[in-house]
Amino acid sequence: MTRVLVSGATGKLGAPICAAIAGADDLTLAGRVARSLAGGEGFASVAEAVAAAQADLLVDVTAPAVAEAHTLAALAAGIPVVLGTTGLGEDGATRVDAAAKTAGVPVLYAPNFAITAVLMMRFAAEAARILDQCAIVEEHNPAKVDRPSGTALRTADLVEAASGTRPEISSLRIEGVVANQSVIFGAAAQTLELRNVTTSREAFVPGVLLAVRRITTLEPGLHVGLEHVLD
Ligand SMILES: NC(=O)c1ccc[n+]([C@@H]2O[C@H](COP(=O)([O-])OP(=O)(O)OC[C@H]3O[C@@H](n4cnc5c(N)ncnc54)[C@H](OP(=O)(O)O)[C@@H]3O)[C@@H](O)[C@H]2O)c1
Repeated sequence: MTRVLVSGATGKLGAPICAAIAGADDLTLAGRVARSLAGGEGFASVAEAVAAAQADLLVDVTAPAVAEAHTLAALAAGIPVVLGTTGLGEDGATRVDAAAKTAGVPVLYAPNFAITAVLMMRFAAEAARILDQCAIVEEHNPAKVDRPSGTALRTADLVEAASGTRPEISSLRIEGVVANQSVIFGAAAQTLELRNVTTSREAFVPGVLLAVRRITTLEPGLHVGLEHVLD
């Protein structure tokens, strides 16, 4: 049984993750972190949780302002981290990578756990090898804190690495949307549009479980993208 700590446990993404872990035969919910659970059913922070609960790994789906501190607290206790909170940034990524290497455990930062989004990014990288004009349009609900989305930034990195040109990103915030993205390529008299649509946060849960089950196959340090455990 792998004992999983979930921070952001009461959130729109964290709640279905907790339910899926609790319902899985090979996983057990080691603890739940959210400020609203403090002093009762859970812990206010990861630092508190790792001191009190026995956990084999952490899943963090909280908020950009606190995710790095949560990740570093788990790493200080030698616990691998599946990080789904977006907005880590380059400096944060450098610090997390160093801490993970010092701890000798992996961190998997997945800007998007939806399998269709991961495939969209993979196909975009492939198209960018041939088509160098590209633009990204990402759509999320207005509650999303970071802008552009982690998925858009990751897609732009992949397209730039393949084509040498960084695509423009447009960020739309629309009520009712969960997380959608189009990657649009243009050439003379033709366009190619790759579009990923998610209709509920249930879309992310299978990818989270995949990451939880396979993260320990990764080397110590920071790995960006669910593709590291997909194939
Ligand atoms: N990687 C992906 O595929 C993916 C998909 C969807 C969303 N996300 C990201 O996941 C994150 C969460 O999204 P969501 O929609 O679930 O947000 P949400 O509904 O606002 O939930 C946030 C959760 O984090 C907890 N939290 C917030 N600040 C905290 C703090 N300082 N200390 C401890 N717990 C804290 C909240 O509980 P309390 O308020 O009680 O503390 C709540 O449980 C966001 O960064 C979002 O962009 C990633």
